[in-house]
Amino acid sequence: MNSLEQYLCKHEARFLEELQAWLRIPSISTHPEHQADMDRAAQFAVAQLHMCGFDQVQLLPTTGHPLVYAEWLKAVHKPTLLIYGHYDVQPAEPLDQWISPPFEPTIRGDQLYARGASDDKGQVMVVLKALEALMQISGEFPVNLRVLLEGEEESGGGAIEEYVRASPERLACDAVFICDTGMATPETPALIYGLRGILYVEMELQGAKQDLHSGLYSGIAPNPFHALASIILGLQDQQGHLCIPGLFDHASQPSLWEEQFWMQDPYHMEELLLQEIGRSQFTGEAAYPPLQRLVARPTLEVHGIRGGFIEKGAKTVIPATVMAKMSLRLPPELNLTSSDVYALLERYVKDLTPVGISVEVRKHHGGEALLLPLDAAPLQLALVALKEVFGQDPALLRMGGTLPVAVLFHEVLAVPIVMMGFSLPDDHLHAPNEKYGLSQFEKGMRVVASFLQKLGAWETTHQEEHDAQA
Ligand code: BES
Ligand code: MN
Ligand code: MN
Repeated sequence: MNSLEQYLCKHEARFLEELQAWLRIPSISTHPEHQADMDRAAQFAVAQLHMCGFDQVQLLPTTGHPLVYAEWLKAVHKPTLLIYGHYDVQPAEPLDQWISPPFEPTIRGDQLYARGASDDKGQVMVVLKALEALMQISGEFPVNLRVLLEGEEESGGGAIEEYVRASPERLACDAVFICDTGMATPETPALIYGLRGILYVEMELQGAKQDLHSGLYSGIAPNPFHALASIILGLQDQQGHLCIPGLFDHASQPSLWEEQFWMQDPYHMEELLLQEIGRSQFTGEAAYPPLQRLVARPTLEVHGIRGGFIEKGAKTVIPATVMAKMSLRLPPELNLTSSDVYALLERYVKDLTPVGISVEVRKHHGGEALLLPLDAAPLQLALVALKEVFGQDPALLRMGGTLPVAVLFHEVLAVPIVMMGFSLPDDHLHAPNEKYGLSQFEKGMRVVASFLQKLGAWETTHQEEHDAQA
């Protein structure tokens, strides 16, 4: 056993205890009443980064939740890696569906259950503990490192964007590493080269100027629920194909090898996805394979509707207002920004709105899609590290979720973005009983340590060539 292996084995129990301590802090960024918890969760990260051996660790206040920054830049002639993660989590509701409470992390079998276990505190801890181990066994990191953690990822906050755009030179680096994605199957790790964007909106519909007795007004007055239903059905057809005019005007085709991959499903991902859904068949656009629909087709989801009478008993009323939250996932193939789509959506919703109803469509937040070239050296080194630890060729995947910050880094810093994470389709991200496998945690640390070592070794040769030429 080498010293890295020894260190990881010896300290694993403590690593998990520290992760559990972090998970006990309910850092729900979207709820203002958790402000103090957000600060505590950020402070916890600061302490962890000190423990890893970073020279400089800062808590950066913003107009929203604080950023956490750390750096260690002593690896002369080595590349600099910027590591990103988020310490905020999604709300835990519905609480009654959790087997153990969301903020009382619990190990059952070989899984750790808690809100944030895999998205993203567990995966950030994978990285931090790999760093701690590397520092402890050799007194240095294999590459120069910057770490930037945010607390507004799950709520679409803009603090990190402001920070990155204000002076990108503070984040100068040769590559970015984000550990906030998943694997193909429990056996097959994945490097992620594409993500969908998102447009999140709230719609407010108003019918009559106040609630009305339905016996006295049904037949002559507008019902905003009915209007909402017809708007939702107007935005997409029965298969979920979006009907928003202009949405496909700039659309391009995915590459042939991708289409083949989605059709063939070589890792049998469909099986796992269907199991997780708990239905015998998929919904959606039948003209495309399910894997393609997940990552390369635009989709719409309604997240919640509020209004009317939902208490016990019966009440004959025509509600005056209804509010709905919905989002669209936007693949890179659309070649539109989330703001472009907002304009198209707003116009079409107005067109679809029946007489007697006024509607307001408010943009909550947007995030852009991403499609990365795969030939950059850091991505190739990540693939080697994944294969080494999992003993299997990693999958190259796109995922359907969104990481607005990945696009931001790609655009502003113009460096390769390595996205590899270790969560699984049944980890219940954003849902009750979120979990992270202990073996994901263990393997993840080894992958990250190996990736950093390779990155250190790679740039030495690269740098020597560079020096020789000079
Ligand atoms: N980590 C997820 C995104 C993700 C998960 C990508 C698994 C790929 C695989 C991230 O925390 C997330 O949930 N993002 C939000 C973004 C939104 C709030 C702007 C999403 O996709 O809904
Ligand atoms: Mn995440
Ligand atoms: Mn998330």
